[in-house]
Amino acid sequence: MEIDQFLMEMDGVESLSKDILIIAATNMPWNIDPALRRSVRFTKQIFIPPPDKDAREEIFRVHTRDKPISRNVDFKKLAELTEGYAASDIKAICDRAAEIPWEETLKGGEEREIEMDDFLQAIKEQKSSLIPWFKEAYKALKESGEMSLFEDFAHYILKYGGEIEEVKKPDISFKDVGNLEEVKDIIRRELIYPIKNPEIAEKFKKEIGGAILLYGPPGCGKTYIAKATAGECDVPFFNINITDILSEREGVSEKNLHYIFEKAINNAPAVLFFDEIDAIVCRRDIYGSGSEKRLVNAFLTELDGFKKATGLVILAATNMPWNIDPALRRAGRFTKQIFVPPPDKDAREEIFRLHTRDKPISRNVNFKKLAELTEGYAASDIKAICDRAAEIPWEETLKGGEEREIEMDDFLQAIKEQKSSLMAWYRAAEKQLIKSGEQDIYKELFDSIKKFKKIKSREEEIKEILDEEREKLGLPSRRERESIKRLLSKKSEIERMIEITRKKYRDKEIDEKTFSKLIAEYEKRLIETEVKIETLKKKR
Ligand SMILES: Nc1ncnc2c1ncn2[C@@H]1O[C@H](COP(=O)(O)OP(=O)(O)OP(=O)(O)O)[C@@H](O)[C@H]1O
Ligand SMILES: [Mg+2]
Repeated sequence: MEIDQFLMEMDGVESLSKDILIIAATNMPWNIDPALRRSVRFTKQIFIPPPDKDAREEIFRVHTRDKPISRNVDFKKLAELTEGYAASDIKAICDRAAEIPWEETLKGGEEREIEMDDFLQAIKEQKSSLIPWFKEAYKALKESGEMSLFEDFAHYILKYGGEIEEVKKPDISFKDVGNLEEVKDIIRRELIYPIKNPEIAEKFKKEIGGAILLYGPPGCGKTYIAKATAGECDVPFFNINITDILSEREGVSEKNLHYIFEKAINNAPAVLFFDEIDAIVCRRDIYGSGSEKRLVNAFLTELDGFKKATGLVILAATNMPWNIDPALRRAGRFTKQIFVPPPDKDAREEIFRLHTRDKPISRNVNFKKLAELTEGYAASDIKAICDRAAEIPWEETLKGGEEREIEMDDFLQAIKEQKSSLMAWYRAAEKQLIKSGEQDIYKELFDSIKKFKKIKSREEEIKEILDEEREKLGLPSRRERESIKRLLSKKSEIERMIEITRKKYRDKEIDEKTFSKLIAEYEKRLIETEVKIETLKKKR
């Protein structure tokens, strides 16, 4: 039916002066012509939500009423585990759970009741059929800008269908983070413990939720420790990147930010992590074009608003703290700022160990020494060194060499090739900090800058140790290796000369006597060179 005709019919109902109630149902309300929603037509829109916890428990009971249910089945627990499931999903779960003992009987197993385990298994197999729908709804409403028209169910849409995805089962936890004990302690105390123990937190009037800013040089573990935090707490963890927020369309970035906060609040207790936050809340006095300013303002508004919703923890990271709008640090906002420093000696040793944990390492590798030699290196540099060191024996094997473990020598070689990536950053940090006059605020960074300046280059020392190590291993030293290289090229030159002489003789350009004399001379030189090479190589 054409929409016009439908509207006309509807408008006509009134004139019939009969009591007619029109009820319509849809699962795509955003596809309905807005004209239908005008005051005199469908005057009421009722959102039928997915079943809540009590309702789900009831649905479980209804659909298992006449089945042999074991007494160990905990319906409350099942209801808890099926948040976001439709009633039809729950029915499917009940049917599936009943099938499990039934199938066993068919295969000759003993007859038994339906156990809690069967239900858990069935839940694992049955995905919520609502989530895809909520995602669809989110997309449609975001595009049409009608989120506010569907107030009732916007809450559900944001909870289940919002754009940002929860980080599922992060594969790292604190045990993968080398050292940084202080940072871990603060995160544990401020974030993980209150979330995990809400009753105790309440007793001591410790607010659950708050905002923590991690700042420090690049590659020293800010993002890494945030991800590990997700592995430590059993609450949803949302990892937000600037691309989740920014839009070129005017006003959309602010809305995106709002939806993200809404989704996180609806899922609280939860952790909301903004990586590279300097890109979102840059200083309004320096970088503030219209749209940037608006985004900063929007962020501050969200930040002030969420405190009411306990249980939301905001974690943010930046390596350019001086670019962050100072308003962000005002009371009640990011009150905790944690400096994530470059790894100290112990930390570096641990990071070396962590990143070589499952690799074949020779017993001669001295991790303490490696840690000493990498003062002023970022954690990511050390990871790169470990990866490079492992490549050396691997490449040798590819070229037909014998399989061998990763030796101290490989690590030293890798350190020699890898410059610290922190140098440039520290230089910029000092300049920027002085410019912004925030030395006191980022005091730990300022101290760290002073310390960093005192670090001396270890290049010469590394070269010397490389030689010592080779000596210990019976391998030729650096100088000797260079000699070998020279001798090898000399050797191939002589071989080339022999070839040329042979050709000249074949082409009758030289007589036999000259030929014999030249060849004898070359061969003598060739043997001498080979002996020298062997002697150097035999130093092992
Ligand atoms: N404490 C640590 N223990 C073990 N590995 C670490 C540690 N810190 C960093 N790493 C390694 O270095 C890599 C880079 O660290 P990460 O991405 O966390 O740096 P970042 O501080 O976020 O840098 P940026 O400011 O550039 O974003 C990590 O993926 C990890 O492999
Ligand atoms: Mg990072």
